[in-house]
Amino acid sequence: MRTTTVRVPAKINLCLGVGPRRDDGYHPLATVYQAVDLCDEVRATEVKDGAVTVSVQFAGDERREQAPVPTGPDNLAVKAACALRDAFGIEAGAGLAIRKAIPVMGGMAGGSADAAAALVACDALWGTKATRGELEEIAATLGSDVPFLLHGGTALGAGRGEEVSPVLARGRFHWVFAIADRGLSTAEVYARYDEMHAESPPPAPHVPQALLTALAAGDAAALGNALSNDLQKASLDLRPELSRVLEVAGEADALGALVSGSGPTVMVLAEDPSHSEELAGLLLRSGACADAVQASGPEPGAHLI
Ligand code: C5P
Repeated sequence: MRTTTVRVPAKINLCLGVGPRRDDGYHPLATVYQAVDLCDEVRATEVKDGAVTVSVQFAGDERREQAPVPTGPDNLAVKAACALRDAFGIEAGAGLAIRKAIPVMGGMAGGSADAAAALVACDALWGTKATRGELEEIAATLGSDVPFLLHGGTALGAGRGEEVSPVLARGRFHWVFAIADRGLSTAEVYARYDEMHAESPPPAPHVPQALLTALAAGDAAALGNALSNDLQKASLDLRPELSRVLEVAGEADALGALVSGSGPTVMVLAEDPSHSEELAGLLLRSGACADAVQASGPEPGAHLI
């Protein structure tokens, strides 16, 4: 049986500016994404019938309980494979096997990553030869973050997050991810954000110049000071215990700490790999999070291995 395997990174938002809710329910974003080497793998195997199926296995230790991942047609990787198939009139099926290291419902786009990986894996398995533009177009229909997970690296995100363009970034950044014992719904966090702005709608979002300058210079300390997330207040409101993680990171001289995307994962910026190891140990011993995982970025987007 022929198989193809794709590795795909998690994403973080170095800044996440969120504007007023649009008529379609989405919010205009001005964000800078970074892909980090906390990676899922998706293997696609040829099947005899035309079915697209999925199985999910969790990588790493089981210190944290994982939210269930759908294993039927609701799985975003299955939706991705079916969307590619429909777009190219393919009749073949595929057996998808996902090995998950990205936290489920953690604000790191794990489901979107698997969708991006499934597109690349099935394109190779079926010989679709889709162009990058065609894959990105399908990706945008699957979720706001999926185009970035194809792109990888460090990039600007506009629209509802699906309009991705490159940004100048030098150097490598070392992160610790403080992972919570249970996930948070992105839709719920955006809904709380709307409630918090019911009286005065937020202004149009923008990317802070200080962040772009820090990235262009590869200056980790300046990046730490420039991190921002408009959703953080809403995430903290839904999960007040996350403040403790931010406190521990501050006391431990992290360069910066911020809720990742809609949360509940908190991303903590270290000076270098040894500082990152030290921070991970401190975070774990503090008991403020269920797990602390080291990773660095930028990483390439979904790619065949
Ligand atoms: O695009 P995606 O399916 O990943 O979005 C999940 C949910 O997050 C949406 O249903 C919506 O509630 C919220 N969202 C939003 N504005 C965005 C992106 C996501 O309101 N720009």
